[in-house]
Amino acid sequence: MIYKNAEALIGGELKKVDISVENGIIQQIAPEIKGEGYDLKGLTVLPGLIDMHVHLREPGFEKKEDIESGSRAAVKGGFTQVCCMPNTKPAIDNKVTVSYIKARAREVGLCKVQPIGAITVGQEGKDLAPIGAMKAAGAVAISEDGKSVLETKLMANAMQYASDFNLRCLCHCEDKSLVDGGVVHEGYYSTLTGLKGSIRAAEDIIIAREICLAESLNLPVHICHVSTYSGVQLIREAKARGVQVTAETCPHYLTLTDEVIKDFDTNTKVNPPIREEKDRLALIEGLKDGTIDCIVTDHAPHHEDDKRVEYNLAAFGISGLETSFALSYTALVKSGELTLAELAEKMSTNPAEILGLQGGKLEVGAPADFVAVDLNAQWKIDPKEFVSKGKNTPFAGRKVYGRVKCTVVDGEVKYEEK
Ligand code: DOR
Ligand code: ZN
Ligand code: ZN
Repeated sequence: MIYKNAEALIGGELKKVDISVENGIIQQIAPEIKGEGYDLKGLTVLPGLIDMHVHLREPGFEKKEDIESGSRAAVKGGFTQVCCMPNTKPAIDNKVTVSYIKARAREVGLCKVQPIGAITVGQEGKDLAPIGAMKAAGAVAISEDGKSVLETKLMANAMQYASDFNLRCLCHCEDKSLVDGGVVHEGYYSTLTGLKGSIRAAEDIIIAREICLAESLNLPVHICHVSTYSGVQLIREAKARGVQVTAETCPHYLTLTDEVIKDFDTNTKVNPPIREEKDRLALIEGLKDGTIDCIVTDHAPHHEDDKRVEYNLAAFGISGLETSFALSYTALVKSGELTLAELAEKMSTNPAEILGLQGGKLEVGAPADFVAVDLNAQWKIDPKEFVSKGKNTPFAGRKVYGRVKCTVVDGEVKYEEK
């Protein structure tokens, strides 16, 4: 197959090229390749987006999402590869569940799905999960996402074991005793609404702890969904000292502030919470100077039953796969904060590199995973159009630029806008 007339991001530059693919691998990238093909005229081609932090909910919460609906949302959002978190029921804490997810994803046959194993058995924070066995079955990282491993010695052991198997720990940072039932960021708007707040330190203390462990043990660690300006600064300083720390943030922390909670819309309830303008600006600065390596969705689909309840009772999370590229492109590239090439690094190249995944670059010999987008298309986010089972978004009605038109995985078109 030849994909023709693409304006493709090759080695950091946009070039007008044809791309030939055989057996799922990019064979040739050249200004013109002879033969019939699939026309990508007018579209910009980026390496397939890679989301290293999603929740697909299977097994156990298929009412919220499953591997099929989540994969469909992924390719619609331009993602060719996603890594799914283990807070399922049962948790992904053993080789059988890891194998099941891989097998089911292959059966669905849309995007690549890479399972992330739990750090502890049942995510109960007591005994380490069988890390080596999960790695052998195909786990690409370990994480206790949804919470932190609160016992520090256990976390240190986890980092050590993970590194023995060449896996990274992805750390959700939250000191439960400090959060103390908080559901939003503590500040003016928590006072105004009467909703219980949670202070930045609840996140920062665990970020600092994970950095201390990584530094003392000389091991790598990855910080999930950074939301605080102070967290950005901790990571920046650690990187400057040579600590092997990487970090991610999400579109909602880059585009919203805690003012959105004033209408009690439970779609704004997410963990960590949406914070203040100075946090939002610091996160953008962190992306610009390389402190924050990746943009992930933390795609957290929920059923209406879990969101159409009072704020205190609602589930935490935002359905993000179908809006991530456009929100990020609009907030970061259209606004001149990042170049398109830098955005592609944050959403594809860096996640691949951090987890040691194939992909993340358009080059000969790489898997033919790419996305074709119309950067000039403006559209309005409408959750009714989501193919994810999770319609929970705080972005309904928002106008964005950048529309995914076609997603190609291993050389095959897996999504095409009609
Ligand atoms: O908002 C969140 N939702 N944060 C988490 O850490 C977990 C996630 C979920 O699983 O719903
Ligand atoms: Zn989390
Ligand atoms: Zn998560």
